[in-house]
Amino acid sequence: MSIRLHEAWSGRFGAILAVAGSAVGLGNFIRFPAQAAQYGGGGFMIAYFISFLIIGIPLCWSEWTLGRMGSRYGYHSSAGVLHAILRSPWAKYVGALGFIVVTLIYSYYVVIEAWCLGYAVNAIAGTFHTGSFDSEAFFGSFAGLGQNGASVGFGLGDIGLFLILAFALNFFFIYRGVTRGIEWVCRYALPALVILGLIILVRVLTLGTPDPAKPDQNVLNGLGFLWNPGDIGTDLLNPQLWLAAASQVFFSLSIGMGVIITYASYLKPKDDVVLSGLTAAAANEVCEVGIGGLMTVPAAYVFLGAAGVVGSTVGMGFVVLPQVFTFMAGGQLFAILYFGLLFLAAITSSLSMLQPGIALLEEGLGLRRQASVTVLGVLTACGAGFVWYFSQGLTALATIDFWVANVLIFIQATLIVIIFGWVIGVDRGLAEARRGARMQIPAIWGPIIRYVCPLYLGAIFFLFIINKVIGWNFQFGDKLEIERSSYVTNLIGPNANPVAIASVALILALSAATFVIVRISARRWDKHLTATKP
Ligand code: PFF
Repeated sequence: MSIRLHEAWSGRFGAILAVAGSAVGLGNFIRFPAQAAQYGGGGFMIAYFISFLIIGIPLCWSEWTLGRMGSRYGYHSSAGVLHAILRSPWAKYVGALGFIVVTLIYSYYVVIEAWCLGYAVNAIAGTFHTGSFDSEAFFGSFAGLGQNGASVGFGLGDIGLFLILAFALNFFFIYRGVTRGIEWVCRYALPALVILGLIILVRVLTLGTPDPAKPDQNVLNGLGFLWNPGDIGTDLLNPQLWLAAASQVFFSLSIGMGVIITYASYLKPKDDVVLSGLTAAAANEVCEVGIGGLMTVPAAYVFLGAAGVVGSTVGMGFVVLPQVFTFMAGGQLFAILYFGLLFLAAITSSLSMLQPGIALLEEGLGLRRQASVTVLGVLTACGAGFVWYFSQGLTALATIDFWVANVLIFIQATLIVIIFGWVIGVDRGLAEARRGARMQIPAIWGPIIRYVCPLYLGAIFFLFIINKVIGWNFQFGDKLEIERSSYVTNLIGPNANPVAIASVALILALSAATFVIVRISARRWDKHLTATKP
């Protein structure tokens, strides 16, 4: 009995491209600079690199290895892969997270992707360069911040048409499959976005002092604003900074999502995973720190000064920068390039959020491509439609992002390293990784994967719960301040917000449905696994 037609990357390079495409996204070019600016570059970067080494690299190698192990049995969804490898009744439910998380992230990520597309088209149309352009008012009405249902129009100043376009493009490429769809897009989009990034970077670094009346607002100070170490000792005592750094590593590298498990499952059994994993992660870091970290904040700083550098991701990308482009010489062209770059970065990431779902529906329920694409299309259209319609204050988007891109990812990541380091066993896992590897994993990573990474994840998650959920805002060595997180007060108590409650209900409903799907799928997989020996 065959589970499904096997697909594969055109080669090892195809897999690296696809994983790098997934990793390099909006996280690199807007989330990272916004976070680094918010927490004052120096201390944040230290926590970021520690998280990269302790969480990032171990999870990359674990997911690449698990995925390739799954391919030996012919499975591609996290649930199928973990079920086949571990053969225990609970493994498929861990794998189910690999579907729940990415499908929910897709629901809002595609909305932001549509903002990028809409902004690129508006830049071409010259909207940002009309006399009285007010970036805050434009974004407010484009995204419908003022009122639910306010952004459902289809004009140039509404997200509607762009959302449908972005959505359709994603599903067009997903329908074409891993090589002719995902790999094809990444092959062109990744080099293109690096070139765009470098052109913009050169422009930003040569901005000098655009306003001679404000000599302090020059590029060097702009870079210094982000990168000067500041008071690292005090900064590092702030638990929020550690949480932000760890979350950024997860989000940016696309780890703890199950995406890499799915992507690596299209490798051939002897394809290298060690060097490939490292290469894809390094490519992400170059784009994140080397391009994203050097262009956004300095550009905002030289035109708007320190007060203009807004910490929120959304504010930075869609309010601050459009305003910056109105001041910059050649700003219209650079706005087109910048939002074009963001759109390309976003689509290679959003495709990676869909493939795990396609894999699960096909190998779990036996659906053919057309049916799997239709079912996933309807599911994600409901999610994205929800985020699109309930646009007031971006409550739906922020609620789903908070609970999924923080809580569920931490849980999934912790379970994945525990599976790799303890259930499979770190020795067997590393031996598996070594097969076909063009580079050895240094011995030190054994104990890091087995002990340090899970403990570090546990500590971060503990901080997260007390800090962000219970709301004990504290700085080590400082006084304790208790302020319930708005993500909690939005759900319970007198200030509960119906949209936030509905967003959490959506997460729970999808989770319940997915648990049923993997339960049904496991029966099919068990028959297949007893009929075939790898
Ligand atoms: N890594 C992507 C970014 O930096 O924008 C975001 C992402 C991709 C999140 C894939 C989740 C995912 F499954």
